[in-house]
Amino acid sequence: MSEAGFAAVVLAAGQGTRMKSALPKVLHPVCGVPMVAHVVTAAKQAGATRVVVVVGHGREAVEKDLAKRFGGEVRTAVQTEQKGTGHAALCAMPALEGYEGTVVVLAGDTPLLPSEAIAALVKARGARPLAMLTATLDDATGYGRVLRDASGSAVGVREHKDASEAERAIKEWNTGVYAIDAAFLRRSLPTLGTNNAQGELYLTDLVERASREGGAATSTWRAEDVAGVNDRAQLADLERVMRLRIATAFARSGVTIRDPHTAYLDATVTIAPDATIEPNVHLRGATTIGAGARIDTGCVLTDVVVGERVNVKPYSIGEKSVIGAAAQIGPFSHLRPDSVLAEDVHIGNFVETKKTRVGKGSKANHLAYLGDGVIGEGVNVGAGTIFCNYDGYNKHQTTLEDGVFIGSDSQLVAPVKIGKNANVAAGTTVTMDVPADALAISRTKQSNKEGVAAKLRQRMRAAADAAKAEKK
Ligand code: UD1
Ligand code: CA
Repeated sequence: MSEAGFAAVVLAAGQGTRMKSALPKVLHPVCGVPMVAHVVTAAKQAGATRVVVVVGHGREAVEKDLAKRFGGEVRTAVQTEQKGTGHAALCAMPALEGYEGTVVVLAGDTPLLPSEAIAALVKARGARPLAMLTATLDDATGYGRVLRDASGSAVGVREHKDASEAERAIKEWNTGVYAIDAAFLRRSLPTLGTNNAQGELYLTDLVERASREGGAATSTWRAEDVAGVNDRAQLADLERVMRLRIATAFARSGVTIRDPHTAYLDATVTIAPDATIEPNVHLRGATTIGAGARIDTGCVLTDVVVGERVNVKPYSIGEKSVIGAAAQIGPFSHLRPDSVLAEDVHIGNFVETKKTRVGKGSKANHLAYLGDGVIGEGVNVGAGTIFCNYDGYNKHQTTLEDGVFIGSDSQLVAPVKIGKNANVAAGTTVTMDVPADALAISRTKQSNKEGVAAKLRQRMRAAADAAKAEKK
């Protein structure tokens, strides 16, 4: 059966030895998303109606990540032994049984590959058996070089290791992306040999064969977009390129990005217009920033939903949390998972929240720990307040109803509930529930002993003088 669009096969079974990593190469993230997921996304955007990823090295981890991101939209095929790119493609063929049409073969290590390059390649194939995406570099060391005949038609690819001096001077190289007729692919792959420097089945040998059986088309793209990652230096280079592109795209959409070179924005975040991102901000995962919000320098937000007009002041950290509209956070706040802050909340310096809901307009401005709490509206939590949520075995909840005032340096030993508009005096250790409108106070009564400080001082100074005299 023939399909509109095309089938994509992503080769991702290689070990990536030069990464020197326990993590499979294709799972190394670029702007928060594994390389292979960037490639799959580009293929889908270009019109892939089915995607097969060939996995091998680190297979379980790669399959798990793909399933999490793409669910059933991506199938995997296993290549147990890495015998080369041709062999990897062969391993994908059972997953394409009965498919007729275009198969786009891609590598899992080209994270910047744009969907437009894939679409252009598919178009370039026309009715020929194969089209290859190429690029040019003055020094194409490491890449397979494109061989052309006198008329300029592509007639083959020579791997760097197999190339002569003259061939190594060729500037045009194979990016490892191809659009191939399914029937041609199916009948050609089993005939590949291993007569080459690496003793592998080279997918690139199909180019020479296609040139004899109807022609090998080429489509050329900017080298910067199609580069592959073989080591972590290249990984860092490509990430820098992608980072700048993400920041620039947000800037064009109406976000103030103070310094695009130090805006560390994952490919997965969204930012509404008129938000401001100051230098050295990291926005990760599913973070979304509302219109007019400001994220100041040094903040790291992972999976945080930031409402409109929120001000996150410098050096605040957030994870899996929600910040309501116009809230003020930081500087130096720490929102741990499941912190849900309503609008107009203030969370200030050195305040840590975890699994805590904070109602509209409530404030904890200085030095507090709010863990496992439910806080109503219009509550004021004084400096140094601690929710003692953990007894060494279990976590317990602290509830502050609307309008509660907690004096500074109080400890609330959970489980405990402070009723509506109640007041906890500074320095109190609360171990029992407090009824609405009550004042809770637990501290020894103060007494002032007149003149005692002065006497104490005299005595201590005399002792110090005596000690000094003895030394002489
Ligand atoms: C390949 C091309 C080369 C091209 C270059 C572009 C071949 C023979 N050479 O070389 O012409 O210039 O890409 O980057 O195809 N893989 C498997 N199973 C294997 C071997 C590789 O799945 O047995 C996967 C890898 O995980 C990787 C991709 O195929 O994602 C490319 O493999 P790699 O070893 O990086 O090929 P290159 O030597 O770079
Ligand atoms: Ca490569």
